[in-house]
Amino acid sequence: MSVLLAPSLLAADFLQLEKEVAMVNESQADLFHVDVMDGHFVPNLTFGFFIIKQIKRIAKKPLDVHLMISNPDRYLEAYKDAGADWLSVHYETCPHLHSSIQQIKRLGIKAGVVINPHNPISLLRDIIPDADYVLLMSVNPGFGGQRFIESTYRRLQELNELKAKMNPQLLIEVDGGVDATNAGKLAKAGANVLVAGSAVFGADSPAHSIEEIKAAAEK
Ligand code: DX5
Ligand code: ZN
Repeated sequence: MSVLLAPSLLAADFLQLEKEVAMVNESQADLFHVDVMDGHFVPNLTFGFFIIKQIKRIAKKPLDVHLMISNPDRYLEAYKDAGADWLSVHYETCPHLHSSIQQIKRLGIKAGVVINPHNPISLLRDIIPDADYVLLMSVNPGFGGQRFIESTYRRLQELNELKAKMNPQLLIEVDGGVDATNAGKLAKAGANVLVAGSAVFGADSPAHSIEEIKAAAEK
């Protein structure tokens, strides 16, 4: 199966948002990754419904919305209404994760669970049958441009073992520090979706960087 690439708009130039979205529309990228932060669950604040709605008006590819917020249950429907096609919540923010995932699925969109780098993959065992995807953080959430955490490869392997047993349809997404140098290894280790922020928007030619990451992932 080919690997999907989701450029993270967190690293885009927001003064040129329309141009940045158009670039992704015309590129080989598959999804828009949209990072929502609340300054509470993570030590950074980004954007909410208003900007996502604007992006949705011009985006020609699905929006993969990654909620890094406390108490996400309160806002699931609002993010769906704003335009989320994929919606993920952190394991760390959901005391009733099974119910949160069901709620997202009832909205008719893809439901994902995100796990932080310190939390054992085995915690996901009983939610994997219900989730459409698991987003494995390969940095600590909150900021773009951080260095990739190497234990991600071992964690990917563990997640793949659980996936094979519990839900072979599950998609595995990796987020943080992804670029053309590690995309191939991640794809080989079982990643189905790669998020890349600074490696795309920090490049001289973002469109070319998207091609490079895709090519590396599919090699
Ligand atoms: C971090 C976010 C990431 C971030 C990735 O909290 O979840 O999506 O944008 O950025 P890079 O690719 O620069 O690590
Ligand atoms: Zn993200």
